[in-house]
Amino acid sequence: MIHRILDKSKQKEVEELFTSVFTSSEGKKEGKLIGKLSSQLASNIDNNEIICFGVYENETLIGSIFFTRLQFSTPIQVYMLAPVAVSVKHQGKGVGQALINHGITELKKRSANVAVTYGDPTFYSKAGFQALSENVIQAPLKLSMPFGWLGQSLTGEPIPAIDERPVCVKEFNDPIYW
Ligand SMILES: CC(C)(COP(=O)(O)OP(=O)(O)OC[C@H]1O[C@@H](n2cnc3c(N)ncnc32)[C@H](O)[C@@H]1OP(=O)(O)O)[C@@H](O)C(=O)NCCC(=O)NCCS
Repeated sequence: MIHRILDKSKQKEVEELFTSVFTSSEGKKEGKLIGKLSSQLASNIDNNEIICFGVYENETLIGSIFFTRLQFSTPIQVYMLAPVAVSVKHQGKGVGQALINHGITELKKRSANVAVTYGDPTFYSKAGFQALSENVIQAPLKLSMPFGWLGQSLTGEPIPAIDERPVCVKEFNDPIYW
């Protein structure tokens, strides 16, 4: 299992992975939606606003994860983890957890301050995420499931409260994802 940072040239592989994984877990409509989202994100990877990691086994992409920047007017580096997928065949073997941990370690190396995500608290708590109040960090759009808003400090200091709604990358700027 090898972790790699992915660039735009992997757009097709990434789209295929997310489409097949989310079609299996959530159905055809969701598979298409997240496949398209991953494709749009992958086509704009710049390793700053949009960062993507992949995990390979025998040169086949078996997992992938995106981190995208949330912009505030204050100079704080906040990244949102989403989406993440592990191929159906390789799920439940620790690949997802290892991929998340790899991404978090890389963000720490880049001196990022905070990681946030939006999803199942039981799953993401295993990777260090905890419930995040919007009194501390707001979501960029209105959340349909506020209990799924999660965060972790990457600095060892408590997450600072920021009294401002951040701006997400344009690919996520659609209520359908929130
Ligand atoms: C969610 C996903 C990325 C996890 O990857 P994985 O390689 O299967 O997960 P791991 O084997 O590393 O599992 C780590 C832990 O999380 C648990 N877990 C895995 N998937 C879970 C899920 N969907 N919900 C809750 N817990 C989950 C596992 O039971 C495991 O717990 P344990 O260590 O106590 O046994 C993968 O299952 C997947 O791609 N699912 C479909 C797409 C999806 O739901 N993505 C996340 C939302 S963007």
